[in-house]
Amino acid sequence: MKNLLFSPITIQDVVFKNRVFMSPMCQYSAQDGLVNEWHITHYLSRAIGGVGGIIVEASAVEPRGRITPYDLGIYNSEQKDAFSKLVELIKKLSPDTKIGIQLAHAGRKGSKDKPWLGEKLLTKQENGYETIAPSPIAFDEDSSVPKQMDKKELNFVKESFVNSAKMAKEAGFDFIELHMAHGYLSHEFLSPLSNIREDEYGGNLQNRLRYPLEIAKSVKEEINNMPLFVRVSATDWAKGGWDLESSAEFAKQLKLLGVDLIDVSSGGLVSYAQLETDFGYQTFFSSTIKHKANVLTSAVGLIANAYQAEHILSTKQADIIVLGRALLSDPYWCLHAAKALNVDIDWPNQYLRAKHI
Ligand code: FNR
Repeated sequence: MKNLLFSPITIQDVVFKNRVFMSPMCQYSAQDGLVNEWHITHYLSRAIGGVGGIIVEASAVEPRGRITPYDLGIYNSEQKDAFSKLVELIKKLSPDTKIGIQLAHAGRKGSKDKPWLGEKLLTKQENGYETIAPSPIAFDEDSSVPKQMDKKELNFVKESFVNSAKMAKEAGFDFIELHMAHGYLSHEFLSPLSNIREDEYGGNLQNRLRYPLEIAKSVKEEINNMPLFVRVSATDWAKGGWDLESSAEFAKQLKLLGVDLIDVSSGGLVSYAQLETDFGYQTFFSSTIKHKANVLTSAVGLIANAYQAEHILSTKQADIIVLGRALLSDPYWCLHAAKALNVDIDWPNQYLRAKHI
């Protein structure tokens, strides 16, 4: 039987050796937005474990774009240099692993404490900061009311995305993902539940798409043929919210701007979202967007084992598989998955004696 999970995929000029990607997952472990030993160990382990692509966690394009003060950032040269070191190490120790970075702005969901410390809203004294959003609507009662972005701020944040993309390219990353999902800034523009603007960036669908599309266009112009992914939330899981049909339209327009792949997630916009998660619960969204917008997509969300991942690809519901928690619990997921599927993949020489036990 033909195997897809461990077959390569080429996007622009970048060849990914297989279709298993590490999902971006904030580690909330940085000081001043800088990559440190934790991040290096975390990403290198998954590279050695055989993933075709790594998407480095949400990295803020400006200080207010951080979810917590402990997020990675890519808005100054010190941060760029620290990322270069990470990329260099990956390329030295696992040369055929491709590494990308997710560029993000937290919008109204910023200025929070680490999840394991309760995610509480931080005051100025606790290193908290002002949050910004399309409209002055708080995420929930434990979040601040964000400042409504004016034209100057819209330009500043768009330029920040472009500058960060430029630095990511200079740092040696192979591809870029824009975070437009999970209720962060770009998603806040898309959804009528968080965007009640009365200018050209609010109201009807095309107006709500405008700012995220402008960001994608400007970034694409900066990075040329470097692969560009966009992560979307296919639905808010809430009445009157952003939905799958709008996501497919958004994907079509992103593709026209040169976006290569839509990374299809869901939710995150409102605290009262009603969803039931089960194995592969977002795969249907990937499949719908893939076929309606005729674009490459990824499936993510409770994909646990090799057979499930292979089935998603062989039934053409997605082009790549993005794994989050499965890779947190098992950095060597790929090595085990290949064994389960009876596919021979390279193991690190140092680990060869474990290949056939
Ligand atoms: C996440 N997720 C996430 N998503 C994203 O787009 N950017 C991010 O930085 C993060 N951060 C993050 C941290 C941690 C600890 C977890 C567990 C998750 C969501 C993640 O990428 C993924 O989409 C979901 O976890 C669903 O996939 P899995 O985990 O079921 O494979």
